[in-house]
Amino acid sequence: MGVSEWASGQGSKYAREQVAGNLQTCRLANLIITGFMGTGKSEVGLEIARRLGREFVDMDTLIEQQAGMTIPEIFAQQGEGFFRQQERQLCQGLAQRRGLVIATGGGALIPEENRQALGTSGLLVCLNCDVGEILRRLAQAEDRPLLEVADRRERIETLLAQRREAYSRIPHQIDTTSLTVEEVAERVIELLREKIAVRTPTGSYEIHLGEGLLARVGELARQQGLGDRVAVVTNPTVGDLYASTVVKSLQEAGFEPFVCQVPDGEAYKTLDTVSSLYDQFVAGGLDRYGAVLALGGGVIGDMAGFAAATYVRGVPLVQLPTTLLAMVDASVGGKVAVDHPRGKNLIGAFKQPELVVIDPLTLATLDEAEMRSGWAEAIKAGMIGSPSLFEQLEEREDEPSLPVIAEAVRVKVAIVEEDPYEKGRRAVLNLGHTFGHALEVLSGFTLRHGEAVSIGLVAATRTAVALGLCDQAVEGRLAALLQRLGLPTRYQGYEPREIWEAMATDKKRRGKKLRFVLPQALGQVMVTDQVPKPVVLEVLERLKER
Ligand SMILES: NC(=O)c1ccc[n+]([C@@H]2O[C@H](COP(=O)([O-])OP(=O)(O)OC[C@H]3O[C@@H](n4cnc5c(N)ncnc54)[C@H](O)[C@@H]3O)[C@@H](O)[C@H]2O)c1
Repeated sequence: MGVSEWASGQGSKYAREQVAGNLQTCRLANLIITGFMGTGKSEVGLEIARRLGREFVDMDTLIEQQAGMTIPEIFAQQGEGFFRQQERQLCQGLAQRRGLVIATGGGALIPEENRQALGTSGLLVCLNCDVGEILRRLAQAEDRPLLEVADRRERIETLLAQRREAYSRIPHQIDTTSLTVEEVAERVIELLREKIAVRTPTGSYEIHLGEGLLARVGELARQQGLGDRVAVVTNPTVGDLYASTVVKSLQEAGFEPFVCQVPDGEAYKTLDTVSSLYDQFVAGGLDRYGAVLALGGGVIGDMAGFAAATYVRGVPLVQLPTTLLAMVDASVGGKVAVDHPRGKNLIGAFKQPELVVIDPLTLATLDEAEMRSGWAEAIKAGMIGSPSLFEQLEEREDEPSLPVIAEAVRVKVAIVEEDPYEKGRRAVLNLGHTFGHALEVLSGFTLRHGEAVSIGLVAATRTAVALGLCDQAVEGRLAALLQRLGLPTRYQGYEPREIWEAMATDKKRRGKKLRFVLPQALGQVMVTDQVPKPVVLEVLERLKER
């Protein structure tokens, strides 16, 4: 293994141009491109970084910069052992960062230790290529001492044979032999995309998930056969960040979009604001052939959705959720609503979207507290229907990766498909919400929804344990996971009986019995109204912060 591993001539040219990512912070998993020399790691990595607006790191370049000399010089002066040590340290360091596109050296991930370190930080992709094509691509490369031999083919084949096993352990493999850099980049980006189909009582729609998809909304919306005049509903916070991307993409696809703004916040999720939206729709010339695109968190989704359900007796709706909570919960399932002074979501409708587009890159600008709210709902989804999601969150996720979001969405989809109009099964989505809602109300909504749900999840689980319905180990795992993600598991400031009263009053007002959703195991829940009050009071007493 030698010096000539270091990027082809073409690659090093690009590698020296580090792409300044346009994201201030990024919580997304890294994308790590590895493979043999001549497979195009650096060019492909750079192209992907450009397309996704991510920061690009070429490991070879970074080591050269840190050492202040070229790779051949490092090898000549310090020896290969020193270089491999640098590589190992860099793998450990990069594994602590997120949101990067990383092109590794050809031998960097041969040691299992390095593969594991970087593997925990994101998606590993190995590029492959026919030997003949590698020879052709490297024909002009002069910085490859390893290939300065009489029989280059034989040397490449020998090296490849030595590394084949290690490369084969990389989960994703792409044969680049007959592909351009752009085509390979597209295939890698495809690995970051998912499509989930949802059946509804009247048809079906698709949820598209993928980084950078906000810039392809126009293309995706076109496939829905919508009219040209479309309204993008957003608020100033989200609009300033993402409306121009959406509008540009719509225009490129031949739409005539216009932006409708409403103030930011749950306080504005009212009929008055919806009324202002109707005014903006009329002024913008929206007719029943157009569409409403809801760009924002759950508040925008619910409110724009309600406006879309009612304006000219209904126009098509596209959900573009930009908070984790809206991605894993609010944008899926067709419930839309506004608040009334007497209660949240009292005025609403069922309005299935034509399309949902989830672009996790938007989470880069979301603040921590909002992110935590989303985590609480994702953990809830794991408890309700996906032990593997729960385990994934436990094992390594402290950033919302696309697979995690997709799995949480699948849990919700399975439930709403079974019960689209909330007649039965959908009640399980209230896991943690009976307790949580009471705490929210008692706190005068100073306790955030996600925090309240978090405590509610623990309370529900502890109740299930107290009733002998659930193993105590589940409660321990749940509490540990919530705490790791910065969510509370205890409350303070109220007495257990006050919480009971708040739960009971809420139900009484709606003329219903107090029902509890209780976990029986990870991924399995039950709904019951047979929970004795003393058990609940005892559970709440033990959850009180002292
Ligand atoms: N319809 C349903 O099935 C359903 C399910 C759950 C919740 N909801 C509703 O969802 C609402 C809560 O949604 P939410 O938690 O998304 O709150 P939200 O919509 O108020 O968004 C939270 C804050 O984050 C900002 N924001 C959104 N995206 C951002 C981004 N990418 N970068 C920076 N800032 C961003 C928003 O402007 C807002 O200030 C509630 O009204 C709730 O009733 C509906």
